[in-house]
Amino acid sequence: MEATWVEVCAASALVDGGLAVKLPVLHAGVAATAFFVRFEGRAHGYLNRCPHMGAELDWEGSVYTRAGDLLMCARHGATFQPDTGVCVGGPCRSSMLHKLDVFEEVRSNVRMVVWRPSGKTLPAVS
Ligand code: FES
Repeated sequence: MEATWVEVCAASALVDGGLAVKLPVLHAGVAATAFFVRFEGRAHGYLNRCPHMGAELDWEGSVYTRAGDLLMCARHGATFQPDTGVCVGGPCRSSMLHKLDVFEEVRSNVRMVVWRPSGKTLPAVS
């Protein structure tokens, strides 16, 4: 069964080039995490799994390069376009992160980042 949406965090929690917000998920039935970031003003979400070796990208929530213009895997340095998830450098060049359907809207007077789960990536049930 697919959930209709998940409130990830307040929109103000995601800052361009800042730390990611992470959530536990199930991907194809296996425990994993997803991460959510802001880039050029828009929220984006990805399965936290590098296409190179399947490791989580982040280091304690940090996923951006120092310049804040690319996402970077903390393991072997693959870099990704923050808005598309396309790998633009490193060992898995031209592969892609698994992008999640993310939008923002005001709920109960607070602007929220919302994830609409679909396909193989679903919220972990606590
Ligand atoms: S696991 Fe991400 S670059 Fe190797």
